[in-house]
Amino acid sequence: MASRVFSGVQPSGVVTLGNYLGALRQFVALQDQADCLYCLVDLHALTVPQDPAALTAQTRQLAAVFLAVGLDPARATLFVQSHVPAHTQLAWIMESLVHFGELERMTQFKDKAAGKAVVSASLFTYPALMAADILLYRTDLVPVGEDQKQHLELTRDLAQRFNSRFGETFTVPEPLIPKLGGRIMALDDPTRKMSKSSANPYSYIALSDDPDLIAAKIRRAVTDSGREILYDPEHKPALSNLLTIYALLAEEPVEEVAARFRARGAGYGVFKQELTDVVVAALDPVRRRYLDILEGAELDRVLAAGAARARSLAEPMLARVYERVGLVPPVAG
Ligand code: AMP
Ligand code: TRP
Repeated sequence: MASRVFSGVQPSGVVTLGNYLGALRQFVALQDQADCLYCLVDLHALTVPQDPAALTAQTRQLAAVFLAVGLDPARATLFVQSHVPAHTQLAWIMESLVHFGELERMTQFKDKAAGKAVVSASLFTYPALMAADILLYRTDLVPVGEDQKQHLELTRDLAQRFNSRFGETFTVPEPLIPKLGGRIMALDDPTRKMSKSSANPYSYIALSDDPDLIAAKIRRAVTDSGREILYDPEHKPALSNLLTIYALLAEEPVEEVAARFRARGAGYGVFKQELTDVVVAALDPVRRRYLDILEGAELDRVLAAGAARARSLAEPMLARVYERVGLVPPVAG
């Protein structure tokens, strides 16, 4: 089993069921098996305009979500990216290593830049900072959703390029993408991924949604033609997405879930009602814990301890990199 796990989540809005099933759930499961570091990547959030007060609030809220879903700060390290300056320092080295053409090929950049009158330079260089995040910690495994696969491939290329140019320095990380749940789709459109940045709040379920709102969102979720409960992502993409959510939360194989409803002769209406029960049962305790944690003082202590540990790991790695590339070490005194 991997010895070091690293992942990052942007504090740029609510946390969705997609984030939970694609990423956070894996984060919690891994804390028993490896040395895990989880980073609230506030600097990545700055690549698009943010309201300063909202960014501060969302960073604390995201930290509370991590604890509410079961992350144990005694076993895993939770910290804020901007608390560890080595991330931006290594990012500059990564920017000097990555090719302009490689960044131009990133589909997330193309998607996020499409149709915008103004695009920040940091949105373009974003993958260099992400590579720095990962490579600072000798990371073996990076649990992420499907949408981050290309960034992980670039990170691997940069680690190898650095190692071959300057000598063995970085561990080449592997992505860990869940087979089911790596890409939870929007409730209003099964061709788009569920995203907190959607203009329509009925397209996602947020971990902070209360039971009534969850029920309303599931009632409104689009379904496919027909009435049979079938797991068939190609012909029934909307229903298959809902079945995936059900199966992951109920911890049952998705085909079995579908077969069970078919055997009862249940249609979409009954399925949606029971899906609501499953989602509420999973998320309501999380939401309640979240509200308690957000008010308590533990959060600041957790983030301070997390940053101290992250700095103690990152600083020696950065010093080694600076030396390898030929930067003159500062003389003490
Ligand atoms: P972000 O909120 O974009 O910083 O994403 C945080 C983590 O959640 C990343 O690992 C993403 O790949 C994952 N993620 C985001 N949206 C989804 C989705 N709809 N389905 C599965 N995973 C997702
Ligand atoms: N780019 C990731 C996302 O949008 C967030 C991220 C930043 C990340 N640094 C990371 C994920 C390092 C994994 C590892 O979801």
